[in-house]
Amino acid sequence: MKPFVVRPAPHFRGELLFPGDKSITHRAAILSSLAKDTTIIKNFPKNKDCLATIEALKKLGVKITLKIKKKESYTFSVSGKGLAGLNKPVSPLFVGDSGTTLRLLLGVLAGQEFKTRLIAGGLLAKRPMLRVNSPLRMMGATICARRRASGQGQPEEYPPITIKGARLKGITYNLPVASAQVKSAILLAGLYAAGKTRVKEPVRTRDHTERLMKLFKVGIKTKGNTIVIESGRELVSPKTIFIPGDISSAAFFMVLAAITPHSALRLKKIGLNPSRCGIIKVLKRMGADIRIKAGNLRAVVAEPMGDVFVKGSKLKGVTVTREEIPSLIDELPVLVVAASLAEGTSEFQGIGELRVKETDRIKSILFNLRKMGVDITVYGAGPSEKIIVCGVPRLKGAHLMSFADHRTAMSMIVAAASAKGSSSIDDVSCIDKSFPGFISALETIRPH
Ligand code: S3P
Repeated sequence: MKPFVVRPAPHFRGELLFPGDKSITHRAAILSSLAKDTTIIKNFPKNKDCLATIEALKKLGVKITLKIKKKESYTFSVSGKGLAGLNKPVSPLFVGDSGTTLRLLLGVLAGQEFKTRLIAGGLLAKRPMLRVNSPLRMMGATICARRRASGQGQPEEYPPITIKGARLKGITYNLPVASAQVKSAILLAGLYAAGKTRVKEPVRTRDHTERLMKLFKVGIKTKGNTIVIESGRELVSPKTIFIPGDISSAAFFMVLAAITPHSALRLKKIGLNPSRCGIIKVLKRMGADIRIKAGNLRAVVAEPMGDVFVKGSKLKGVTVTREEIPSLIDELPVLVVAASLAEGTSEFQGIGELRVKETDRIKSILFNLRKMGVDITVYGAGPSEKIIVCGVPRLKGAHLMSFADHRTAMSMIVAAASAKGSSSIDDVSCIDKSFPGFISALETIRPH
């Protein structure tokens, strides 16, 4: 693959629309499959991860039909099979590199009486799975996974995974890591468990599963940091779900506009769920010029949505606390790019989870931003790991690496687009994992 060359631009202006939010889409597809009637899902993004969920659900016997094909998104019709209607797949489920597909489906499969084998792509095969296997075993599922010493006492578990469901029992589970994927897997298993299932989070994480379950009339309640789900009811489809634009994709353009003087972008119909808005809060604290126009809630059903207006401005250093991390976990690499151009020092606390994303994102941030002339250091380890960044007035163009990680590739394109001199990135094909239209969107907002 030829390296991708990034030419900086003096400013970026215009309007952008975004394909649907990846996290919400996985959940909407899964819950629609478990309901008894048909659901139309609109603004379904064409990315590899969400399509991996569709393929897996089809293999479990769900009828999913493509209704409308647009440039950036699809409309699918999902004929739900009811909670007990899934079929044993004839061959293993391949979930690509989609961690959300794998972890959430494990929750559903824990409640099925058949055995399923799940196989992952090269990046996901290296990501830890004990965090989800452990509570599902406590609920009664039999799970067999590849085991390897982790260097942290207990051996870790990785895909491939074979899971055999059972008559589950409700548990009360204190999540050891703040993870929306693990929480969601337990809640999905909770749909099949006898009695109540309770999940307590150390810090609140994205609540799309809870919101969508309510929409599908599941008996689910949240009190403080605890979510309680009651089984025994069939899911009722809301008939149509419109997926709001992905804030994690829009985040790259928020930072691009914020760090490039004289820029002005309108990012339209973005999901503005408070549990995902950490990027906006932090950029505002840094002095970014951001305005929000709330949209029509009715159109989206379960999630708030609106337009975000961002203009270029002078940014200042910021401290991001451990409690804020889940609300911006996927936006951390691009936020560190913003901090690299802010006046003064920034500190990102409790960032250890970045080591177990598609790749070790702490390693890639250090590698690339140091090459661009930023003074950046990591302190501590595990949950108390933190990064300190001293901002510079201008980044230097450099030869950068994506490490085959979509968010690293897009963050580095943003950094390079405002740098002095051109940059190249070894491989950007990984962007298709979440946002295939990213590069063409960038082209539409640069001056011609
Ligand atoms: C996601 C949760 C987060 C996030 C991932 C999507 C989800 O992962 O990083 O991209 O859809 O629930 P963790 O649950 O591992 O924090």
